Order: sequence, then structure tokens, then C-alpha cells
Amino acid sequence: MNLAVIGAQWGDEGKGKIVDLLTPHVSIVARYQGGHNAGHTVNVGDAQFILHLLPSGILHPGVRCVIGNGVVVDPDALFAEIETLATQGIEVGDRLLISDKAHVILPYHRELEVLAEARRGDQRIGTTSRGIGPSYEDKVARRGIRMADLGDTSDDGPLASAIRQNVSARNRAIGGTETDWRALHRHLRAAWARLDRWVGDASLFLTRAMEAGQCVLFEGAQGTLLDIDHGTYPFVSSSNSTVGGLCTGLGVGPRSIGAVLGIAKAYTTRVGEGPLPTEQHGAMGDQLRESGREYGASTGRPRRCGWYDAVAVRYAVRINGLDALAVTKIDVLDGLDEIPLCTGYRHAGEVLTEFPSNAATLAACEPVYEVLPGWSSPTAGVRRYEDLPPQAQAYLKRIEAVTGVPISIVSTGSDRADTILVAGGLIDRWQAECALASK
Ligand code: GDP
Ligand code: IMO
Ligand code: MG
Repeated sequence: MNLAVIGAQWGDEGKGKIVDLLTPHVSIVARYQGGHNAGHTVNVGDAQFILHLLPSGILHPGVRCVIGNGVVVDPDALFAEIETLATQGIEVGDRLLISDKAHVILPYHRELEVLAEARRGDQRIGTTSRGIGPSYEDKVARRGIRMADLGDTSDDGPLASAIRQNVSARNRAIGGTETDWRALHRHLRAAWARLDRWVGDASLFLTRAMEAGQCVLFEGAQGTLLDIDHGTYPFVSSSNSTVGGLCTGLGVGPRSIGAVLGIAKAYTTRVGEGPLPTEQHGAMGDQLRESGREYGASTGRPRRCGWYDAVAVRYAVRINGLDALAVTKIDVLDGLDEIPLCTGYRHAGEVLTEFPSNAATLAACEPVYEVLPGWSSPTAGVRRYEDLPPQAQAYLKRIEAVTGVPISIVSTGSDRADTILVAGGLIDRWQAECALASK
């Protein structure tokens, strides 16, 4: 009954909206990777919430939220997010649990990232400048600082010594104004005084809760094609956003994942650099960006926009073992005469139907399109599948046929209410099971 919600494109698929929609059926929502590079938007009536580090389930009173060991946590960003939510009437209180094994993002991680991007010049990745990559680098190099380490408040203990070493490496790498390790140590002590109540063994908590019959929603950040292993490397983020990252990023076994729902827009977007085969430049790209309000929820950067790439989504189905898809933002396609759908790539005289492993190959691919008829009556705000225009239904059927998985949710607007739950589909059945379990 535990459900994983995973981005099936390059991020920003609408995971926040879907997680928020499904949260009333669970007791716990858990993030397993990434950090505050994520921006998950939830609109409820006139109110808008943007979650970066906290699981989107936090908006629902009584729901426990877990930040797993696979997440990298910037304490200052966390406090800022908690304070913003408080001004919007959401109290985190004791509903948060942060894994004691989660790695910490420190100010020098952000500085190192900005420097690395500047050095890459034309080859830059277009990162979010949140310090995500360098924090994961420290983790893999086994010099990272973890949440539990912050509990050492002595003047000359292991934390002080780790900070001193890392800061001195930072000072050698960056030059200029040196970071004062003592000031950073004091800053982290003050942070720990606030963090202490939330830090604990997330794996143990989740396991006990699941054994007691509680349902968990696993909330992915980023998307399959930004995964460090399976994405368009090196134009990716630094974590495993695909389903494998869930087990390692929370300390739970694969059998705790009941089903995997992939989220994909009815078209495609990407922020930052890297190949995007169906990208539309010029007027069509601008139209998708403006109708879809495609500006980053974290950085405000304009998102690059293009047609639905069924090769990429079919790849996400394979990598994550997706059971079903949620198609979001179909309303953004309202009013178009024709809608191209990419079903293959032309490369070196051949047509590829599988997603290439290499970003350079992908960059040299020309999309092969099928052109489907558009629709003139709007899908925006439609709440029943049968009320969708027949051409929109045909478009969705074609997506199912090409990706090989059923569509279980269709989102027709940013509000919670603007959603179609496909009768008898995965999510419809899942909700019924959760309701039975909670009785
Ligand atoms: P996430 O990172 O996957 O959670 O997605 P973002 O929040 O970054 O971006 C998705 C954007 O699309 C947000 O502004 C949502 O409010 C909005 N959105 C989600 N679903 C729909 C939909 O079906 N239609 C429209 N028009 N907007 C949507
Ligand atoms: P959500 O969870 C879209 C992109 C950045 C950049 C690359 C690496 O909202 O879907 P990083 O700072 O992570 O090292 O940047 O990944 N990126 C995202 N794009 N949505 C996200 O998260 C993203 N998180 C990172 O733009 O191209
Ligand atoms: Mg986002």
C-alpha cells in the first residue's frame, strides 16, 4: 500500500500537486534524495505553497514527514522554509523526522559549486547553486558531515576537527576571503539547538510504522532524466532520483514499495543545460512556457519547453518499473490545432526507439513525431474522464500505447480539485485499499 511518486521526465512534472492530492490516504510522506534544489508547488484555492526540502505532505495536519538519509540538508534553508510555512499557517511542530545519517550542506558547498560552474564555462550544467553536488561529493569522499555529527558540541571534538579540515581544503580551493571555521562551528552549534528535536533513526521509524500498518507515500525529487546514473549525464543532479534511490535513501527494503507512479507532463520541460530532443525554440516554445507558466519554482529560471517525448517516458517506465502514469498539465495544450508526439529518434541514419545512454548521442538525435489532432473545447478544470474532448482522450490513449503503461491520473489544472482519477486504475484501487486498511 505504500506508493512511490517519481518524476518521469526532467523534473517539475507536478509531483508536489500529486503528492498533496494523495496525502489524505497516508500517515507518512518521505523524501529520499535531493535537497532544496527541488521546488514542489501545491496550490490550494488562492494559497500557494512551494516545498523545497520538506515533503509536500507537511501541508496536511497530523501527517508525519520524513527526510531520509539520502537527502542533503541545508539547515538554514530548512529553517527558512519552516518559517515561511508558519507565516502561511502551517506548523511543522513534531511532525518532522530527519535521518541522523542525512548529510549537511554547508556554506562552502555553495561557494564550491559556483566556482565549479564558472570554471566549466560553456560546459556548465546550469545547477541551482544550492550546494547539492559538492555536499554529495563530500559524502562519497567520506569526509561529509552528517546530521548526528552536529550533536557533538565540544570545542575540540570530531565535529570541530572535521570542519577545520574541510574549511582548510575549501580555503585552498577557492582562495579570496577565507572561511573562518570557528565561526562556522558556532553557527552549526546554534543550528543543532533547533534541529536536535527532529533528528533520529528514520529507517527504524519507517519500518515500525509500516509494520503497524501505516501507509507511506514516497516523494521523489527531480526526475528520472536528472538521475546521477540513469539521467543525461553529466547534465544531471547528484542523486538517484529513480526508484533505487528510495531504498538506499530511506533504509527500507524493496518490498516496502507497493507500487510506483510516474509523473509526466503532457509535454516536456527542462531547466538548465543538457540535451532536450523535443525542445521548441521560438514562438511555439514561448507559447508552451507562457501557457504552462514554466518558470522554476526554486530559481525562477525560464524552463525550456518541448513536445511529449514518449521515448524518454518509456525509458522512465523501464528504469523505475512504473506501474502507472499521472499526466499533468494537459490543459496547457488546449487550443492547439495539432500536437506532435515524439515516438523515436533519428540518429546516424537509423531510427532509435530506446533512449540512448550517452548525452552526446541524445544531443545528435532528431525527434520522429506522430502528429495528433488537437482539441478546441478546453480540458482546463475538467474533472471526469468522459468530459475530456475525444481528441484529448485519443492523445492520452496514444501515450498509454507508446509508453506501455496505463494512465491513472490526469491533471487539468494546478488546483487539487482539477484532477481526474481514472476509474478502476492504480490510484483508484490504491485509495480504496488505504481506506480499508485505516478502518
Ligand atoms: P514538481 O517539482 O514536480 O513538484 O513541479 P513544480 O511545482 O516545480 O512545477 C509544476 C507546476 O505546474 C506548478 O506551478 C504547479 O502548480 C503546476 N501544475 C501542476 N499540475 C498542473 C496542471 O495540471 N495544469 C496546470 N496548468 N498547472 C499545473
Ligand atoms: P524538482 O524536484 C527541475 C536541475 C538543475 C540542473 C541540474 C543539476 O522541483 O522537480 P543541481 O543543483 O541539482 O546540482 O542541478 O538539475 N534540477 C532540477 N530541474 N526540477 C528539479 O527539482 C531540479 N533539481 C535540480 O536545473 O540542470
Ligand atoms: Mg519543481
